[in-house]
Amino acid sequence: MKKIYEGKAKILFETEKKDILVQRFKDDITAFNGEKKDEIINKGFINREISAIIFTYLKENGIKNHYIQSRGKNEMEVLKLDMIPLEVVVRNIATGSILKRTWIKENTEIKPPIVEFYLKDDSLGDPLINKSHIKAMKILPDETIEKIEENALKTNTLLKKFFMNVNLIIVDMKLEYGFANNEILLGDEISPDTCRIWDIKDKTILDKDRFRKGHKNVLEGYIEILERIK
Ligand SMILES: Nc1ncnc2c1ncn2[C@@H]1O[C@H](COP(=O)(O)OP(=O)(O)OP(=O)(O)O)[C@@H](O)[C@H]1O
Ligand SMILES: [Mg+2]
Repeated sequence: MKKIYEGKAKILFETEKKDILVQRFKDDITAFNGEKKDEIINKGFINREISAIIFTYLKENGIKNHYIQSRGKNEMEVLKLDMIPLEVVVRNIATGSILKRTWIKENTEIKPPIVEFYLKDDSLGDPLINKSHIKAMKILPDETIEKIEENALKTNTLLKKFFMNVNLIIVDMKLEYGFANNEILLGDEISPDTCRIWDIKDKTILDKDRFRKGHKNVLEGYIEILERIK
């Protein structure tokens, strides 16, 4: 397979079919724009499993996405998307970077949820931008931005329910979208690398914040999430 992109957490390969890619989940883990790095054996497999379960659930509930099927230990076949250079973040509980930008206190429930857009540009440090910026840069027309925001909020509602069923809270999530045949699809991954997930009762952190905060047992948190949702 021909490698077409290698990022911090995944590798994309071309396949014999021009509209299908293979997304390989790496064991590498990074935080703070790649400043903190490590390798966690089996993380790629666990994240592939979690992502596959979530994409399947979302598809069954009307959220179109790129997932086709899993293959091998840490890969999935996906529809090739023309990616929109935005990260769409939905927040249900205030933690992380939002505490530095607003008066919202840590752990406050945010109702209705906040939707944020970040420009995917490492050289600019993936800055927070708003809809006017997106329009001014001609990344997307107004109606498409609205559609994506609506889709992100619907995805959030579904995932809140999904995790609530297994006594987990989805605190926030980062979504990426792209086009295939003029349709907007949810792409990338949905995993503990890209979402904050806590136990509902004791609020134990089970996601990548374990790594950011320097805890041991990062993988154990990821495995706990997988065990509950599968
Ligand atoms: N279905 C898809 N088709 C094409 N590209 C995709 C698809 N799904 C995800 N991508 C892109 O593949 C890349 C996945 O790699 P990874 O997440 O490791 O990158 P990264 O290091 O986070 O860097 P960045 O996300 O800033 O490119 C991302 O750029 C993502 O936008
Ligand atoms: Mg990425």
